[in-house]
Amino acid sequence: MKKLLILPILGLLLVYACNDADIQVGEHTPVLPSIQYEYDDFLSDIESFELPFEVNFGDQTILFDDIGFVGDAHLTSSFGDRHNAEATLGRVLFYDNRMSKNNSIACASCHRQNLAFSDDVAVSSGFGGKLTTRNSSSIVNPMFGATFFWDGRSRSLEDLALRPVFDHVEMGMDSERDLVDKLSQENYYGGLFQDAYGSPTVTGDGIRSALAAFVSSMFSGDSKFDEGIENDFAQYSQLERHGMALFFSEQTQCASCHSGINFASPTASGNEYQQTSGTTNIGLDVVYDDPGFSDGKFKIPSLRNVSLTAPYMHDGRFETLREVVEHYNEGVQPHTDLDHKLSINGSPIRMNLTELDKDALVAFMSTLTSKSLLVDEKYSNPFK
Ligand code: HEC
Ligand code: HEC
Repeated sequence: MKKLLILPILGLLLVYACNDADIQVGEHTPVLPSIQYEYDDFLSDIESFELPFEVNFGDQTILFDDIGFVGDAHLTSSFGDRHNAEATLGRVLFYDNRMSKNNSIACASCHRQNLAFSDDVAVSSGFGGKLTTRNSSSIVNPMFGATFFWDGRSRSLEDLALRPVFDHVEMGMDSERDLVDKLSQENYYGGLFQDAYGSPTVTGDGIRSALAAFVSSMFSGDSKFDEGIENDFAQYSQLERHGMALFFSEQTQCASCHSGINFASPTASGNEYQQTSGTTNIGLDVVYDDPGFSDGKFKIPSLRNVSLTAPYMHDGRFETLREVVEHYNEGVQPHTDLDHKLSINGSPIRMNLTELDKDALVAFMSTLTSKSLLVDEKYSNPFK
């Protein structure tokens, strides 16, 4: 964990300053810096996620023994030079608007680095201006393996990687053949494929694998919270401490769903969320237009970086974290599939939080924001 604290802060600030919020994605030829970035250096950082460990916090002892994702760790692909070359290719693909039917949209249009790879609208417009039906997810520690998408329908990044490309709202390409033909016409892909796979031929499997390699290197592990583990939360304000205590309390039960080191769905096999791919119903509506996994069940998302990913929930209905807390406090709707943690004797729970409690929960969640992910050049737009 210590390693994560040593950040080349000045360099990062510089990159941050240049990080134009409104990126013109993939208009030009990529400028790939001569340095090969290490996309697998998160492996050494991950050691700091070694479980279990306890933190003592006021009179509470909090046990972390859970990764916080349903699914297997995604640490199976090859690492080292090959992985770095694949991820370098994946970075170019991620920012290349030629991946969409009319060259208007790239992955990065809806997954922006400065917003923890989410965007800032409830639903996003795709290549033809049509809107997605759900809120663009942020991308949080996918290397730990997880179920992806709000309904948990995808179980691996390779499976997921090209779905948006052929989605008729998101990027609209007609077929893998068309995509491969189109990218083959760009002179910069031959060399990138050569480096990654030993042959300049553009292939669908290569595209899938490279995107997965890039996305799976996005590591969030250097938040104020992670520093707090090292120094007994000495940097936490009184409000943040109060929020943390509440988050892990019986009164709110936030941590029983947003669980473990990633503040996401409990991992242990056999737990109640395994059968539903890490989804549950939190009583947003009495009747759901979008059933999600089924019966209004949606993925328990990671809360890492959550202060950057507004608006919130699968449909982006809440503008602020404060509104989210208000929902849990007094807005939970009765639903036959409402998670039992949010009901008492069949009625939706009312948490009776004070105004200070609500502020405190928001303040605590804001300590989960990773620093380097948002500014690290290796995740940035290579098209200049
Ligand atoms: C038009 C906007 C848009 C584009 C373009 C787009 N996405 Fe997404 N992305 C979304 C939305 C919306 C979701 C949530 C969809 C759902 O849950 O059904 C999502 C979900 C994801 C997730 C799941 C995160 C999680 O933990 O559940 C990943 C990973 C992802 N996208 C990667 C990509 C990649 C890679 C590309 C490019 C090939 C891409 N996206 C292009 C909007 C977009
Ligand atoms: C019963 C399990 C459960 C409990 C308890 C729970 N959550 Fe959630 N949380 C979820 C699910 C599921 C979603 C996504 C729901 C959706 O989008 O339909 C969610 C979404 C959120 C979001 C929005 C994240 C995003 O990216 O849009 C925040 C913030 C959040 N919860 C915070 C909290 C806080 C704070 C508490 C305690 C007061 C809490 N949660 C208690 C399951 C739970």
